[in-house]
Amino acid sequence: MTDQTPNPELRRWLRTLPKAELHLHIEGTLEPELMFELARRNGVTLPYASVEAVRAAYQFTDLQSFLDLYYAGAGVLVTEQDFYDLAAAYLRRAHADGLCHVEIMFDPQTHTQRGVAIDTVFAGLARALREARDTLGISSYLLLSFLRHLSEEDAFDTLAAALPLREAYRDLWVGIGLDSSERGNPPEKFTRVYARCAELGFRLVAHAGEEGPAAYVRTALDTLRVSRIDHGVRSSDDPDLLQQLIRQRIPLTVCPLSNLKLGVVKTLAEHNLARLLRAGAMVTINADDPAYFGGYVLDNYLASAVALDLSHDELVTLAANSIHASFLPTPDKNRLLDQLAHAASQG
Ligand code: HPA
Ligand code: ZN
Repeated sequence: MTDQTPNPELRRWLRTLPKAELHLHIEGTLEPELMFELARRNGVTLPYASVEAVRAAYQFTDLQSFLDLYYAGAGVLVTEQDFYDLAAAYLRRAHADGLCHVEIMFDPQTHTQRGVAIDTVFAGLARALREARDTLGISSYLLLSFLRHLSEEDAFDTLAAALPLREAYRDLWVGIGLDSSERGNPPEKFTRVYARCAELGFRLVAHAGEEGPAAYVRTALDTLRVSRIDHGVRSSDDPDLLQQLIRQRIPLTVCPLSNLKLGVVKTLAEHNLARLLRAGAMVTINADDPAYFGGYVLDNYLASAVALDLSHDELVTLAANSIHASFLPTPDKNRLLDQLAHAASQG
């Protein structure tokens, strides 16, 4: 979407608000144009004739129907330059949307399973992130995410392969996430590896309550001891859990257009984002996999604002929540919150 979309005024104002994006899979930012370019560069054959054919295939019925294409698309990422190009393109877009900070998930197992070295993945992503910090002024962290459809042993192996790189990427790699097929792969499957990651001092997040039940949000909190929940929209099925999230100010990284495209909600108008916000939950707005779901973070803010009749104050609260809920040090959060207050007062 561009400025030709409806509500250009609202879009322009939303762009001026300093914001953070906290739920973003870098593999999910692979636009079909770059997919074709990398396929050509690496001699990978795609099962599509054109960019248009790829886009036409993005008709998802549920999470798994998306994941099948997402993992297939990631097959074009081979070299350090590919990971650099992917992340650099996203960061340019993030900057254009007024993001001042991003926390990016990446799935090493998606690449190591195909014979790509984990060093290659880290090196390409880190080069783009550091360059964007220096040239665009956008800060970023990396969250290494385990694939939950694979075993805990596989997650331990991935952690072991990544740990020797920790020192080299200490400025970026701050946390651990859990993604992929949720149903049938409850958080408690990863209790031991999360305990180890906590001992190592990583910040912990996990996808829970996207397609899976509210009970998975509970076990992500109680068993994995995460400090932030990715999605978590099913939490409202359990009023006691929702009260706990509100009381403890546990952030939920909500992705409205993702939920729409994957059938978590039938229409944006019935999304519980506004109800959660108005009940006092620490909700944030994010894009998840923007190349696949038809919208980057600003598109998500705008579509939610329109569908849910969010007020300017509520939109500023959502932007403030994204800064509060980030893993930035407190002085950085305070500086960005001051900038946000200033920008909001100009609107
Ligand atoms: N859910 C689970 N796994 C994922 C997602 C998601 O929204 N995006 C990329 N991997
Ligand atoms: Zn996600």
